[in-house]
Amino acid sequence: MSDTEDRRFPTDDPAVVTCGLPYANGGIHVGHLRSFVGGDVFSRALEKVGQETAFVCGSDMHGTPIAVQAEREGRDPEELALRWHEEFTEQFPEFDVDFDNYGHTHDGTNTELTREFVRRWIDGDHVIEREIQVAWDPEVDQPLPDRFVEGTCPYCGETARGDECDEGCQRHLEPGEIVDPVSTITGNPAEYRSRTHEFLKLSDFQAYLQGFIDRLEGTDNARNQPREWIEGELEDLCITRDMDWGIDYPDGEDGEQDLVLYVWVDAPIEYVASTKQYSERVGTEEFDWREVWGGDGRDPERSDIVHVIGKDIIQHHTVFWPAMLRAAEYDEPRAVMACGWVTIDGKGLSTSRNRAVWAEEYLEEGFDADFLRYYLATAGGFQGDVDFAWDRFRERVNDELVGVVGNFIYRSLLFANRNFGGTPGADLSPEVEERIEDAIGEFRDGVDDYSVRDVGEAAVRLARFGNEYIQRNEPWKLDDEEAAPVIRDCVQVAKAVTVLAQPVIPSTAEEVWSTLGEPGSVDEVRLAAALEAPPAEFGEPTEPFEKVDPEHTEELAERLEERVAAASEADGAGADDEAEADADADGEAGEAEAAGDGDGADAGELEPLADDRISFEEFQDLDIRVGRIETVDPIEGADDLVKLTVDVGVETRQVVAGIKQLHDLNELPGKKVVLLANLEKAELFGVESNGMVLAAGEEADLLTTHGDAVPGEKIR
Ligand code: MSP
Ligand code: ZN
Repeated sequence: MSDTEDRRFPTDDPAVVTCGLPYANGGIHVGHLRSFVGGDVFSRALEKVGQETAFVCGSDMHGTPIAVQAEREGRDPEELALRWHEEFTEQFPEFDVDFDNYGHTHDGTNTELTREFVRRWIDGDHVIEREIQVAWDPEVDQPLPDRFVEGTCPYCGETARGDECDEGCQRHLEPGEIVDPVSTITGNPAEYRSRTHEFLKLSDFQAYLQGFIDRLEGTDNARNQPREWIEGELEDLCITRDMDWGIDYPDGEDGEQDLVLYVWVDAPIEYVASTKQYSERVGTEEFDWREVWGGDGRDPERSDIVHVIGKDIIQHHTVFWPAMLRAAEYDEPRAVMACGWVTIDGKGLSTSRNRAVWAEEYLEEGFDADFLRYYLATAGGFQGDVDFAWDRFRERVNDELVGVVGNFIYRSLLFANRNFGGTPGADLSPEVEERIEDAIGEFRDGVDDYSVRDVGEAAVRLARFGNEYIQRNEPWKLDDEEAAPVIRDCVQVAKAVTVLAQPVIPSTAEEVWSTLGEPGSVDEVRLAAALEAPPAEFGEPTEPFEKVDPEHTEELAERLEERVAAASEADGAGADDEAEADADADGEAGEAEAAGDGDGADAGELEPLADDRISFEEFQDLDIRVGRIETVDPIEGADDLVKLTVDVGVETRQVVAGIKQLHDLNELPGKKVVLLANLEKAELFGVESNGMVLAAGEEADLLTTHGDAVPGEKIR
């Protein structure tokens, strides 16, 4: 486990991929699924490149998300959580989300390990006791932790829950921080009472975390967003709550008051516990959880731990969790991959308002799980938001998956079977061999770039080439002898597409694999199989996919529209209990679906070209200049915006740009950019913006020049 800068996958060490644990308080919707599919695709892709990988997760059973729901339903929290846990264990396999271990936070392994972590923190002197003011409902005479209270975020002024600003700035809130707290049990204004609680001294890890963030790999949002949280002095983390439901605080069991651990303590520890359970099941010779997580006395170091989450819980995974690991002398994560929101009509999904498309509902409609996997894995960049719409789902599936991938595989294999009874005996052409090698390279780069979409698209691009190759060579016009090498090439491409697409569409890939007469499972082969010769004989293929019927998706779109309208009516009725998309934080959560990372030229999600033409004179009215970034500063209160000063030759301009979470700000000074200089001035968060820096796509890929153009030169 060396600390070399550029450690490509596969490494010699075992890796672990985890997904953010679903709260066991309600059903899974397409938003949750995006993170689970993302994790599943990534872990399968790691195995394809030869990385030994365990993929683990579990249900999040504790905390107020479960307690509040149990109270609402008048049930016991444990019973409620176990019921949903059972449901999840059945649902994930239906989407081929194939965890090597799926535990839950209330099981023995996690309870024990959590206590061990906390003991280590206490022994290491990282825990401090403090008297604090907690919200209290005077009517029912009980404390109001976390989601039992709602109020106003002290940072951004939005409506927030007790422990998170879910509709605004997404910050974690400590007990007592929320302004104007109201009890969610009675609706009464909450009072404050003094209680004794335990805190993990995050301040002990400030310097460590700064170094950690510099090492962290993964998506840009997860690598950049935490910087602002660890710049100022770190607030200590309250790790106990006044509740019955949860894991008891190890030293507090004999006290008269119930003190359990905060849910965000035992939840991430389940990543470790779940890996441990996996090791115990398969044997440590096969997979040793200690090799990944450490914690056995060796120096805590970097391991191949990859956390896949939604963007709402970046702070927990890049600040609290690494500090928790470090405080217990466990190893740190290597990467955090945070997916953007799935929204509907630009708004966040809501369990309580039924503004969602449910996993269960999708399956009941009879759709192939691979369709949704494909859509979720390749829509937009992984970190961009995706607005779910049934017609777009249908378009992407029918045009790309069925129209390109399915069509190519089917026509190639059918031609081969009809004319040659299988793969004709001929040599693979150098052109095709090279194209397959390129596709393998794209797939590998996708893995090393933590880009789920690039991994998913390598196969689609290769299939597109395949279709073009058949079209160009017109084998149907050739006699068998002339057609043989062409068809040999096509079958090889079809096999390669199957291998490369397997992480995204595992069950279809398996079917094609057996149609091809290949032995074993395509799940088990590595990328090199894409270039190994396919069997000389195979049977008649069937079409790998059936198109999505437009009438079906139209009907679903109508149903969804009604559902969204009903949810919007409820919108006035107080704060939601489910994470809402922070439309403001991204500027345009809804439309943010256009091509994001990588080369998105064939993403199928691009805006149509504008119909209205402008004259050359109108173009000349735009004063676009080459600039050079001089300084970059955050803007107080704004999550996405930064203040730039840009040298445009004739003068230096101050410009506000929405690029904070998308770039490493330290790397920007000195970069050449392109600036629209005569845009009318604007004021954002009290800061004047005098011009606009141009950027492409949702990830704000900054435009630049590629020659010697100097600041001030005009773009024409
Ligand atoms: N229990 C916590 C995670 C604990 S991890 C130690 C939690 N649960 S959740 O049920 O709300 O979400 C489960 C996962 O789905 C999280 O990774 C979350 O970020 C992700 N998503 C939930 N809603 C989502 C969307 N609408 N869009 C994209 N991802 C979403 O958070
Ligand atoms: Zn806020």
